[in-house]
Amino acid sequence: MALRQIRYDGDDILRKRCKEVKTMNDRTRTLIGDMFDTMYDANGVGLAAPQVGVLKRIVVINVDDETPYVLVNPVLIEQDGEQIGDEGCLSLPGKVAEVPRPEHVICRYYDEDLKEKTIEADGLLARAICHELDHLEGVLYKDLAVGPLREVEYEDE
Ligand code: NI
Repeated sequence: MALRQIRYDGDDILRKRCKEVKTMNDRTRTLIGDMFDTMYDANGVGLAAPQVGVLKRIVVINVDDETPYVLVNPVLIEQDGEQIGDEGCLSLPGKVAEVPRPEHVICRYYDEDLKEKTIEADGLLARAICHELDHLEGVLYKDLAVGPLREVEYEDE
C-alpha cells in the first residue's frame, strides 16, 4: 500500500465522469488500499478515485474511524429529508462551505468482491455518500454550496 497524490481543484480530472468497474483485479484492489491510506493520511472521511487521478467509480468512506466502506459503482436509490451543514474536501484543502444534502439516503453498490449490497444512512454518513458520489460525476461540493467558501479555522492542539 502507498500514498497517492491527491488532485486539487483546478485539475481537469476532477471534472470528468468516471467509468464503471466491470471486474475486480489486483490493480484495483491495490488502488482501494491506497485510497484508504491516502484518506487516513490526510485526515479525511471520504475519498473518490478521481481525487487520486483514476477515473473509476470507486469511493472509500469512514466517518466514525470504525466503519470503513468501499463503494464500487454506487447509485442512490432513495433520498429524503434535508440537512444543511459545513462540508470540506481533500481536493480543496483548508476550505469549507455550507451544502444542503438529503438527511437520509439508500445507496446500492458493489463491495470489493463485486457483491451487490445496499447501505442506508443518515446524517454525516448520508452527507459523505452524496459528496463522494458527486465526485464520480465530476461535481465538487463548491458547485452546490449555499454560502461562500470559507477558510477553515484550525484549533490549537
Ligand atoms: Ni471531496
